[in-house]
Amino acid sequence: MELSETFHALGDPTRLRILRLVAVAKLNVSEVVSLIGVAQSSVSHHLAKLKALELIREERQAGFTYYSLAVDASDARWPLIQLAQKSEDAHGDQARLTELLRRREDRHTLNEKLLEPGQSWLLWASALSSLLPKLDVADFGCGSGVLTAELSRWARHVTAIDRSAAALEQAKARLSREKRSNVSFVEADLHDLPAGLPKHDLVVISQSLHHVNDPAAVLTQAGQLLKPNGRVVVMELMPHAEGWVKARLGHQHLGFEPQTLEAALHAAGFTDVTLTSTPRDGSSPFRAFLLTASRPARPSKRAAREARA
Ligand SMILES: C[S@@+](CC[C@H](N)C(=O)[O-])C[C@H]1O[C@@H](n2cnc3c(N)ncnc32)[C@H](O)[C@@H]1O
Repeated sequence: MELSETFHALGDPTRLRILRLVAVAKLNVSEVVSLIGVAQSSVSHHLAKLKALELIREERQAGFTYYSLAVDASDARWPLIQLAQKSEDAHGDQARLTELLRRREDRHTLNEKLLEPGQSWLLWASALSSLLPKLDVADFGCGSGVLTAELSRWARHVTAIDRSAAALEQAKARLSREKRSNVSFVEADLHDLPAGLPKHDLVVISQSLHHVNDPAAVLTQAGQLLKPNGRVVVMELMPHAEGWVKARLGHQHLGFEPQTLEAALHAAGFTDVTLTSTPRDGSSPFRAFLLTASRPARPSKRAAREARA
C-alpha cells in the first residue's frame, strides 16, 4: 500500500482518533460512535477508508462487525502507527475506551458473578430498596432520569429537579415509558429552589454536585427541603485529573475530597454523617464515594451558631 496514501488518510484528525482506538481494542461502529461523539454515517465512512488502505480489518462476532488494527511491525507503515499512538489524547478518547472496556468486562462476568453469593449487587440493591418505607424523595439534578426511575419503584413520591429543560424532557419520557405516576418534575436551579416546594424525607444528590458552582449552597438547599429527621445521600467522585470532563461533560469540579463535603454538610446543619467509598480500581480514573447525613429535628448548636454568625 502506498505510504503517501496512508499519510494522506491519517491527515484527517477523526480518522486518526478512530485508528488509535481500534489499535487498542476490537470495536464495533456504535462503540466508536459513543467514544468519539461523531455521527454514525461519518464513522462508517472513515472505517471504510481505513479498511480500504488495509490499516484495519473487520470481522463478524455475535452479529456485530468489529474493527481492529491490521498493521504489525513487519509493515513499512508501522512507525507511523506508533507515532499516532504516542500523540496527545486531546479529546480524552482513551479514558472513555478504558471505561467502555471495563463495562464490557462487567457484562461478561455478570452471569458468573450472579452465581456467587453476595456478588449480585444490582439485584441486592433492588431487593433491599423494596423493603424501605414509602418515602417522599427529591432527586437533585435528575438528568435523563435513570436514577429517578429506580427511586420511583419504591418511593411514595419523587420530585425530580433539574435546570435543563432537555434533560427533564428525557426524564419525563423515560418515566412515562415505565408507566410511573408518582414523579413530578421541577425545572429549577439547585442553588435557588422555588419557595413552596413540599418537604421531603430524603434528598438524593447523585453525581450532580460536581456540576454546580457552589456545592455548599446546594447542600444548604437540601437541608431546607427536608422534614425534621430527613436524610440526604450524596454520591460523588474522588478528586481526579481528567480535565476533559469540564469541556465535554460540563463538570465544574474535578471530584471532591470527601472531607470537604463532610464539612459542608456539617456547616449546612446536618449530623450523623457517614462515608462509604469504593475500592481503587486500576482500570478507571474515577472512584466514587457516598455520604449520608441527617437533618436533626432541632438545629445542632453548631448550625444555630453558624446561622447567627
Ligand atoms: C451527571 S447528571 C446527574 C444525573 C443523575 N443524578 C444520575 O446520577 O444519573 C447532572 C445533572 O445536574 C444538572 N445540573 C447541573 N447544575 C445544575 C444546577 N445548578 N441546578 C439544577 N440542575 C443542575 C444537569 O443539568 C444534569 O442533568
